[in-house]
Amino acid sequence: MATNGSPSPRTFRVGMLGCGIVGTGAAKLILNAQPPLRDKTGIDVQITRVAVRDARKARDLPLKPAVFTTDCEALVRDPEIDIVVEVIGGIEPARTLLLEALKRGKAVVTANKALLATHGKELFEAALAAHSSIGFEASVCGGIPVIGAIRDGLVANRVESIHGILNGTTNYILTRMVENGAPYAEALKEAQEKGFAEADPTLDVNGTDAAHKLVLLSDLAFHSTFNFKEVHVEGIENVQADDVRYAAQLGYALKLLAIAKRRNPGADPDEVPGGLEMRVHPTLIPQNHPLANVRAENNAVLVQGDAVGEVMFYGRGAGMLPTGSAIVADIMDAARGSARQTFTKLQFFQNPRADLPVIPADKVRSRYYVRFTVKDQPGVMGKVATVLGEHGVSIASVIQKEPDASGTVPIVMLTHLTIEDRFREARKKIEALSFVHGGSAVFRVED
Ligand code: HSE
Repeated sequence: MATNGSPSPRTFRVGMLGCGIVGTGAAKLILNAQPPLRDKTGIDVQITRVAVRDARKARDLPLKPAVFTTDCEALVRDPEIDIVVEVIGGIEPARTLLLEALKRGKAVVTANKALLATHGKELFEAALAAHSSIGFEASVCGGIPVIGAIRDGLVANRVESIHGILNGTTNYILTRMVENGAPYAEALKEAQEKGFAEADPTLDVNGTDAAHKLVLLSDLAFHSTFNFKEVHVEGIENVQADDVRYAAQLGYALKLLAIAKRRNPGADPDEVPGGLEMRVHPTLIPQNHPLANVRAENNAVLVQGDAVGEVMFYGRGAGMLPTGSAIVADIMDAARGSARQTFTKLQFFQNPRADLPVIPADKVRSRYYVRFTVKDQPGVMGKVATVLGEHGVSIASVIQKEPDASGTVPIVMLTHLTIEDRFREARKKIEALSFVHGGSAVFRVED
């Protein structure tokens, strides 16, 4: 019989769906923890079954060959298994398998942010109906226990904002580009070799993975259920080394930030509606900002709460053992019986969405970095400034470089706060001017 959530079972039996990088990390920690988990917790965690594509493949784990199977369906139905750990990733068959496990009263642990950010409501409801639980600490920021911290540690707060570096792969790529002048493709290849990237690394570089994680943090922080489709997402694919350099000259670092920020209605003169901004995009932040020095595969989450003020969580956001560490924490939480109690009291759906609509991207307020490439001739700067002025966009600072051999010159500008649709309109008009070459490079700025 499954004993999900029952108090202190001496033996707690784990079935694992998948045994890739994260699964192997979790298994190693369960098997080799020093001191052993049972000495620390009084619970003997046993890996009973592991479902993999190739059950005969040699693996660096001290598990008997009979533990491995290719039959995922049998694993989730197995009455001998107390908890199903899903580390196969993707939407299907993970979704169907977890729904089946939950229906059978088993606890579930998953690192699958894509699944929870798109089908979380269905899965959370299934877990509540079955009086079971879903642990998902490993789904956001690898080894950093940020889910538990926001859910429990900050419960007294009204969260005002979350700013996060939530993707290790892109942070690794940007760090290598900035610090070593590494080409984008080479840095991405290294991130893949180190086991940070998703099976499909497009999800990392185009911002999708960070957006999935932002949804999960926002569900907990703002007591609602958001969907990945509500997040405005831009990736780092078009970041050029030149822009990183110019940003540095202006005193800024470039990071892929995930941002969820409350805005009160009528809080500014532009009559922008209230609600929640949810966005992921390359962002300029001042070099002395707490997130500016988060390097390589590290992640960090900066939360602003009304009681606590600013609090920052920092650590390894990707990789075998950091993510395995979060999986094992969730397994122990379920084994102790606390996961079910916590989960059934989570008020995911408490906040009626009418109270916290997601603000459309074109109504978001931001400062901008923009680089135009223009002919080096008199009056150009004045005309660009005039178009910006006509759209109510005010310039905060400007850099103009010496012309290159082609006779063109980059103009780099930082604006004051403006509404996105206004800025977009001005940018379009400037790009159409005869002395402007090609498109512009644009990044938002957070101070
Ligand atoms: N691909 C993810 C990252 C792994 O790079 O952050 C952790 O979710």
